[in-house]
Amino acid sequence: MPRGAHPSYVGVMFEVGENADGILAGVLFLIWLSAAILATRLAWRPTPEALRKSARRLLRLLVAALVVLVVKCVAIGLMLAVDWIFADNRVIVQMPLLLLPMLAVAIWTVPGLRALADRDDAPVDVETRSAAADPRFVVPVQVTAVATVIGVYFAYVSRPVPSYVDDIATHAAPILLSVVVLWFWQGRRLRVVTATDFARRGRRARALRATAQAAVVVLVVAAGITYVAQSSRLPDRMTMTSHDNVDYGGGPSIGHGGHGGTSVDDLRGPQTGKPNKAFTLTAKNATIRLSSGTEIKALTYNGQSPGPELRVREGDLVEVTLHNEIPDENVTIHWHGLDVPNGEDGVAGATQNAVEPGGSFTYRFIAEQVGTFWYHTHQNPLEAIRRGLFGALIVEPRDGPPPGERDFVVQAHEWRTPDDNIVSFGTSDTLQRQEVAPGTPVRLRLINTDNNPSTDSRPRALTINGTPVRVAAIDGVDVNGPTPLTDPRFGLATGGRYDVTFTMPAGPVRLTDLANRDGGLVLAPPGDTSTPKIVDDGDQFDPLSYGSGGSRPFDAGSSYDRSFTQLLDDRLSFYNGGLHLVPIINGHSFPNTPTLMVRMDDVVKVRIVNRSHQNHPMHLHGHHALVLSRNGVRATGSPWWIDSLDVIPGEIYEIGFKADNPGLWMDHCHNLDHAANGMVMHLAYEGVTSPYELGRGTPNQPE
Ligand code: C2O
Ligand code: CU
Repeated sequence: MPRGAHPSYVGVMFEVGENADGILAGVLFLIWLSAAILATRLAWRPTPEALRKSARRLLRLLVAALVVLVVKCVAIGLMLAVDWIFADNRVIVQMPLLLLPMLAVAIWTVPGLRALADRDDAPVDVETRSAAADPRFVVPVQVTAVATVIGVYFAYVSRPVPSYVDDIATHAAPILLSVVVLWFWQGRRLRVVTATDFARRGRRARALRATAQAAVVVLVVAAGITYVAQSSRLPDRMTMTSHDNVDYGGGPSIGHGGHGGTSVDDLRGPQTGKPNKAFTLTAKNATIRLSSGTEIKALTYNGQSPGPELRVREGDLVEVTLHNEIPDENVTIHWHGLDVPNGEDGVAGATQNAVEPGGSFTYRFIAEQVGTFWYHTHQNPLEAIRRGLFGALIVEPRDGPPPGERDFVVQAHEWRTPDDNIVSFGTSDTLQRQEVAPGTPVRLRLINTDNNPSTDSRPRALTINGTPVRVAAIDGVDVNGPTPLTDPRFGLATGGRYDVTFTMPAGPVRLTDLANRDGGLVLAPPGDTSTPKIVDDGDQFDPLSYGSGGSRPFDAGSSYDRSFTQLLDDRLSFYNGGLHLVPIINGHSFPNTPTLMVRMDDVVKVRIVNRSHQNHPMHLHGHHALVLSRNGVRATGSPWWIDSLDVIPGEIYEIGFKADNPGLWMDHCHNLDHAANGMVMHLAYEGVTSPYELGRGTPNQPE
């Protein structure tokens, strides 16, 4: 049983249903294709015996199709049992279009077919042949085969989202068209089969014609695919606020502001005042060495990756000057999880132009939140973060960390070499040991700076063995009343952070990324050389009910100024010229994804539904959101505030946030390959505009 972000059966039910539904769409197509071929040829069977045999085979195929259909209904039922929204498109669009032609088969084909199957050895005469070639008898089977093609298209390509009116039309149209075309075609065949010279008609001529027809079909399809691939190319220049797909979440419609709007350039941090902490980060090429000795040609800040740890105090005015010395790469810095003013957010093409080789940019902001954050480039991130343009950003409490606390920052990352993916903590891909005296308070700051392990579609799984631990903070927000967890498994969302604390026991403690069991971190008392065993079947940590106390400014029952739904799915299609399993939000990829429009001080609810094949760690910039519920179960533990939320297939999260940080904010999946394939949308405040552009014709490729 796959393990999700929580020990729940809903994800499994959905995935079993979804995968079975997709496979069965293919199986139905194969069965009905065979059936259609058999039915079409029935009138050409030369002997009574051959005719009878074919009719019987066809009947058996129809029975098989019925059985598969029933199983498909069960698969759909599984999804519906999780929630109506997971399969409403099957119920409304897909099934009627399959069932109607099948009904026609039952009414018009089956009786005649049974007669043919029970036929005696009388010679096959014109009458029999014309019954077997009658359009009313054959076309229902052929049309059902066409409907199953549409079923496959539905399951893997079109993936309709509400409202379904236009989808019913686009999916029904080819089926209706096929009725007309096939009726006409079959009518001609009927005339051939009943013609007096039927027996003399050449096979060769027919084969030749069929080949010519097939060639035309192949050509048309190839031209169509080329056209679709070409037209999926993104424009050379676009802005983040130009798209027309605007979602007001049921609130009053508002605009980006045009005249008199606020530019993101006006939403900067304090531009005057002496910084309490000033850093310089210079982006450069460097070769870094992992603990195993493997060398990585990395993109780095200051020649190291992970980049320098930036450690500041709550309330500090922080100034970071970025220089770019990488000859062929533009760079920015985004402060992941820190809700800085919009103009400091470091998103190329939204809040600034990416820094070109030789250029500089200075970020200034006040560190208002305490906790574990990280920074990374927001230019070409799929490539550039993976190759090393990231580091940790730690904000300590105003009065300093708890006395005597040992603090370890762990950045779970995967380094790519031409022949390997190396799962590491920072640059450590082999087991590391650190001495810690028993009784010492310890804080492990776990950061997932990568996607999920390449072999696994689940959140990154980390275990801690050797002592019970508490989760003291999630995404830079303290947890109230954390309770001890023994041998926990942490499914850490991409971009997400857990602060885990414990008091050093008399024996060793081990932190492991289950994707690299030979690596990890062992904390051991001085002189202790033992290593705890990995326990990997412990309970999955579930923040939904973890901890206690603390207050919620709003909950699942509150009323909201705006409520949005993000329906996450994926489809096999072209994006920017390439064929991918393209992730989609409400049926679209960037730049056609919806822009969520809000007004300052709105209280906003977002319902995130994952009915795709992959998990999506959704990351909203500039805000922390409170988890309200998951699959209808209210959050009960400590308030669970997030900036990075892993949503696995079959899950529905409701989150709420206050619109209190004006700007133009990214809201995207942090699996960077998904973001690069268009799983990106924006949260826009009324009246905020951006002068920046993105696309091949600009310096900016934010994803
Ligand atoms: Cu960590 Cu938009 O990113
Ligand atoms: Cu994703």
